[in-house]
Amino acid sequence: MEHRATEPSILSAALATVSAAEIEASRSILVREGLLGESTHVSYFGLDEQDKRELLAGTVSARRFRAMLVDMTSGASHDVIVVPGEDRVASARQLDPEVDGQVPVVLVEFSLVEQIVHKDERWLEAMRKRGLTDLSTLRVNPLSAGVLALSETGRRIQRCFTFVQSTPNDLGWAHPVDGVTVMVDVVSHEVLEVLDYVNLPVPQEDGNFHDPTWVNQPDRPGIKPIEITQPEGPSFTIGDDNVIDWLGWKLQVGFDQREGLVVHNVSINDAGVQRPVLYRASIAEMMVPYGDPSPQRWFQNFFDCGEYLLGGFANSLELGCDCVGDITYLDAVVADAAGHARVIPQAICIHEEDTGILWKHTDNWNGSSDSRRNRRLVVSFFVTVGNYDYGFYWYFSLDGSIELEVKATGIVFTSSYPNQGYEFASELAPGLGAPYHQHLFSARLDMMVDGSVNAVDELEAVLVPRGDRNPTGTGFTQSVTRLKTESDAQRLADNARNRVWLVSNPGVKNRLGGDVGYVLYPEGKPVLLADSESDIYKRATFSTKHLWVTPYEPGELYPAGDFVNMHSGGSGLPAWTAADRNVDSTDIVLWHTFGLTHFPRIEDWPIMPVDSSGFVLKPHGFFGRNPTLDIPESSSDHCAPGHHDGHAHHQEVQESE
Ligand code: CO
Repeated sequence: MEHRATEPSILSAALATVSAAEIEASRSILVREGLLGESTHVSYFGLDEQDKRELLAGTVSARRFRAMLVDMTSGASHDVIVVPGEDRVASARQLDPEVDGQVPVVLVEFSLVEQIVHKDERWLEAMRKRGLTDLSTLRVNPLSAGVLALSETGRRIQRCFTFVQSTPNDLGWAHPVDGVTVMVDVVSHEVLEVLDYVNLPVPQEDGNFHDPTWVNQPDRPGIKPIEITQPEGPSFTIGDDNVIDWLGWKLQVGFDQREGLVVHNVSINDAGVQRPVLYRASIAEMMVPYGDPSPQRWFQNFFDCGEYLLGGFANSLELGCDCVGDITYLDAVVADAAGHARVIPQAICIHEEDTGILWKHTDNWNGSSDSRRNRRLVVSFFVTVGNYDYGFYWYFSLDGSIELEVKATGIVFTSSYPNQGYEFASELAPGLGAPYHQHLFSARLDMMVDGSVNAVDELEAVLVPRGDRNPTGTGFTQSVTRLKTESDAQRLADNARNRVWLVSNPGVKNRLGGDVGYVLYPEGKPVLLADSESDIYKRATFSTKHLWVTPYEPGELYPAGDFVNMHSGGSGLPAWTAADRNVDSTDIVLWHTFGLTHFPRIEDWPIMPVDSSGFVLKPHGFFGRNPTLDIPESSSDHCAPGHHDGHAHHQEVQESE
């Protein structure tokens, strides 16, 4: 296995998350080279990972960093590679916004639009028409703009909605001023257009879930504490460069301003050998398309990675309550708008969780009765992107499975509910609508199942036709179809056929002579629900398939392209895969689309209980047998009957599954 050519510690140092010192050193070079001036905002700064093939072969060069910069007085944008270890800029390309699109949204744009819009006579008139005259209560919400017309290309635009926040403590999302859309050029500070389509009443009922006097309910009685204790500490250790060792698993935790958590070099111990599974895994894009085509909101489709850089919005979990148990936190370091290091304290949460029964059997013949408990290592972080909050949870289990769960919560995007039976939104409170929408994620899974050379088979359940092979008509089997090229490998899930994707290594055999592998189990929920000629279909083509497979290329990182903001589409996966390259028995990357199709419920208001989506990777012929026969009985866990209250059926406290 070629990864052994490089010392693990050298590899993890090469892939380590950016440090504050590296950010500051890079900044000095960018300033010196005239790329970062007074009016320049750093949109993105992150590690430009060295080509995996060089790294694994033992050629390690100085760490390179990518900076995306925008001058907010001229609009000029640059895509820069800086190498602080060599005190130089390796490349600096000025974007052509008409072709390339724009660098991601910078923080100043959020506050800027309100100041600009508040002074615009057309908008003021639209507000007066609705009886809204107190500017201090009118919040202007900047939204990434998409691309509507050729006249917009080349400009840096936000489309804006207005909400009424009646007091500083009020939840503004409860009071959308629907029907008015404002287009703002955030470089020239011009209001380009105020579109007043329809005068819908502003919903009046508050949604102040954070205010006990508004909630006006006593606390639910009878809630007793749940304490998770680990008297001997957690079972993991964290070494240099955030390399975690946990009960046979090894992985490196990284953090990126665009993708958030990144896991590198995931491997699992098998009889003393550390066997690789994944080289790198991240959420490389996520996009929230809204299904209401009305003129004031057709453009609502937010790329939370490519346009907003969700990692930069990571919550600080220092206040507790976000994770329970024996928690280790890691800080995240990103660049601020001026290019200085900004530490997000305790952004990443690491802990282990009991997950119930791992396996169990009572044998009627030999009289044995055994059970073992499962547990998982949880590596997570939470972001707030506008109205929504998302938690990203990577789970590594004793049985060799890897799971990602995304938890969506926060506030649904609101509208006025125009009339009973409106077909594109739910009514959540009197006159308050919530447009139907999706949350679509793209997991980039750079697979490394026992080495770099991998292949993908589609497995599915198949009825065998009645006949000589199947005289009783009860036969069914599993079909295996190799996905040989990029066009073969653009697939939809099909849960009615139990369709899954097996990533195997044709060069490494298990003890029964089969190729070792891991299976990707999709949830199989809907992909993008939009017409193939629509704007969003072209901009988010990645989200129209559950699976894409590409050969590894170091520059192919983001499935909707590098510059998504105001890009008209076609970049990323649709562009790369047009070459229809071979993906059979080579170094491959899987791109998996998953997510939620959200028809909001009344119960999602005023704050939405967590809804989840994700996927699972499970070993499939990777081990020679159940890899958890070495897990001891959990005699030291609190497995005994608990407090007796006189009711026999209440005795089991922790054992139920
Ligand atoms: Co939703």
